[in-house]
Amino acid sequence: MRACGLDFGTSNTALALVEGGRVRALEVDPGHEPAQNIPTLLFFSEDRRQFYGTRAVEEYLERAMAGRFIQAIKRHLPSKAFTTTFINGQALDLSDLIAGFLESLKLQADREAGEPVTRVLMGRPAVFHVDPERDRLAQDRLERAARMAGFEEVRFRFEPIAAARSFESDLDRGLLCLVGDLGGGTSDFTVMRLGPQRRAAGDRADDVLGSAGVDVAGNDLDATLVKLKVLPRLGFGARYSPLGRPVPVPTRLHMAMTSWHALSFAATEGNLEELRGWIRSADDAAGLERLLEILDWNLGFELFRAVERCKVELSRQGEGVLSFRAGRIAIEEPVTRREFDAAVQPLVGRLERCLDGLLARLDLRHDDIGAVFLTGGTSLVPCVRDIFERRFPGRLLAKDVFTSVGHGLGIEAAEIWT
Ligand SMILES: Nc1ncnc2c1ncn2[C@@H]1O[C@H](COP(=O)(O)OP(=O)(O)OP(=O)(O)O)[C@@H](O)[C@H]1O
Ligand SMILES: [Mg+2]
Repeated sequence: MRACGLDFGTSNTALALVEGGRVRALEVDPGHEPAQNIPTLLFFSEDRRQFYGTRAVEEYLERAMAGRFIQAIKRHLPSKAFTTTFINGQALDLSDLIAGFLESLKLQADREAGEPVTRVLMGRPAVFHVDPERDRLAQDRLERAARMAGFEEVRFRFEPIAAARSFESDLDRGLLCLVGDLGGGTSDFTVMRLGPQRRAAGDRADDVLGSAGVDVAGNDLDATLVKLKVLPRLGFGARYSPLGRPVPVPTRLHMAMTSWHALSFAATEGNLEELRGWIRSADDAAGLERLLEILDWNLGFELFRAVERCKVELSRQGEGVLSFRAGRIAIEEPVTRREFDAAVQPLVGRLERCLDGLLARLDLRHDDIGAVFLTGGTSLVPCVRDIFERRFPGRLLAKDVFTSVGHGLGIEAAEIWT
C-alpha cells in the first residue's frame, strides 16, 4: 500500500508520492508552470464530462463557456450555507464536487506508483474558520471527498507545518523558525524548531511552538483590485426605483464579482431576472448592463484572469494595467504600486495582527526567530514581504513557493507510513 501527501489549495494543488523513504512531486498538470501544480479549477461541461486544471480552462473557453466552471472551491468548505448545487440535473454537495478532482489525482498517482495509493496525508490551513464547528465541518467535508476519491486512510497536517518540514533540509544547524504560508485563500504562520539533528526525532509535535491563521490571502488582494477599478464601471452604487422612489440597488451581485468562489454560483436565472428588473429604472443602467453581460455570458473567469495578471505585474514591477475587454466592456485601468499598497493596507494589517498575536501568545520577540521561511504565491507581493523584512531583517529565506507544502506533506507521509 502506497502513500502520498496532498496539498489541496484554493488556487493550486500538488501531490507528492512516497517511494520507499523518498518523496517525488508528480507533474500533475503538464500545461501549467510549474507542472507540479494543478490549478484547483473544475469544469462540468453540458455533455456531462468533467475537466480539471489547465484542461478545465481550455475546455471551458473552447465550449464558449457553456457549462459550470468552479474556482476557489476550498473557500466554500467552512460554509454552512452551501448545501448542494445542481449540475446537469444532479444535486451535488461540496464533497461530491471535490471528490472528482481528487480522484483524478489519485488515479495519476496509482499509475505512477504501479499500485493503488490508498493512504493520504492532506494539508489543511491552521484555521479553516474561527468557529470550531465550521472548522470541523470543513475538514470533515474534505475527508469525505478524499474517501470518495478512493483513499482508505486519510490524515491531516497543518499546511505551514508541512512547509516547515520541506525547508528543514536547508538548515545546517538547529534554529527557531517562523514559517509563513501566504496562499490564495488563507494565510498561516507557524513557529517551529527546525534543524538537521531534529529531523530524526520522530514525532515532531513537540517542536511546534504554535500556529495561527487568518482567511486573508491572494484572492482578497484580487477582490480589492476589483472594488478599486472594476465595480465603479459595473453600476456599483447605482440607484433604482422599485416603488417609484430611488433606493440603492442591492450589493449582493457586485460582491459576488469580488469573490471567485461566489461568482461560480451567482449567475442563476433568478439573479439575472432580478438584475434585469433593476436595470429598467436604474440611474446607471449602462453600468448594470455591463454587470449583466459578465454574469449572463460567464465572463467572470476572464475578468478574474485579467485582475490576477495585473496583480502579478504589480508585484514584479512598480505598476500594472488592469486590462479587460469582452463584448461591450472595455476596461483599461493603470494601477501604481503605491495605489495598490494603500488599497490593500487593511488586509496587510490583518496579516500583521495575526502574526504579532502569535508571537505575543508564545512570548517571543523578533530576535528569538533565527530564520523566516515564506511560501505560497502571495509571499511574492512586495508589501506582504515587507511585513517580514521589517520585523526580521536579513533572516528571510524563500524557495519553491508553490511546491513546498506538498513536498513537506510527502516527507511527513513517508515518516508516518514507512
Ligand atoms: N507573482 C505573483 N505575485 C503576486 N501574487 C501571486 C504571484 N503568483 C501567484 N500569486 C498569487 O498566489 C496565490 C496562489 O498561491 P498558492 O498556490 O500558494 O495558493 P494555494 O495553496 O492554492 O491557496 P491556500 O494555501 O490559501 O489554500 C493566488 O492568489 C495568486 O494570484
Ligand atoms: Mg497553499
